[in-house]
Amino acid sequence: IKAYAEELKSALHQYPNFPSEGILFEDFLPIFRNPDLFQKLVTAFKLHLEEKHGAGKIDYIIGLESRGFLFGPSLALAMNVGFVPVRKVGKLPGECVKATYQKEYGTDVFEMQKDSINKGANCIIVDDIIATGGSAAAAGELLEKVGANLLEYDFVMELDFLKGRDKLKAPVFTLLSGQEEALKN
Ligand code: PRP
Ligand code: MG
Repeated sequence: IKAYAEELKSALHQYPNFPSEGILFEDFLPIFRNPDLFQKLVTAFKLHLEEKHGAGKIDYIIGLESRGFLFGPSLALAMNVGFVPVRKVGKLPGECVKATYQKEYGTDVFEMQKDSINKGANCIIVDDIIATGGSAAAAGELLEKVGANLLEYDFVMELDFLKGRDKLKAPVFTLLSGQEEALKN
């Protein structure tokens, strides 16, 4: 996993001052342009999860819109488990559970289909990055609302200086830790 993580880290592309002044944006999209790296990303998470929870323990991978959709379904398929999306409000048909979270400007709402997961199912939430932890915490609330069991959060990157993981009620694993940081102005 460590060797894969090193290789994946070196594929990240840095964009200074995006999306706003003083922010160094770490773009992980180059990973997906290269099937060998994409495979390594999925395999690294799979190995980690199997090592930590044992094969057969996990029932669902939960991906957060949008960037959690880039690798969540691939990971689920590789692990032979289901994939369930958490979407931004108003996109999903049928009865949904909702959770509100704070974004930079105002609040946002995440939704998940109420009948998508059976009670007690063992779930993993995945996303590209944890910043303030607001999105991830809201996704955790959705799982609580349907009575699912959240085993762990998995992120590719983490803005650790924001201490987002302190908001979360389940263990956090970051594959490429401490990658994004604020530029000194
Ligand atoms: C970004 C990122 C994470 C979230 C992290 O998503 O992809 O999902 O923010 O921030 P937080 O920890 O402070 O909640 P964004 O909502 O910008 O949208 P996108 O994934 O659709 O690009
Ligand atoms: Mg996102």
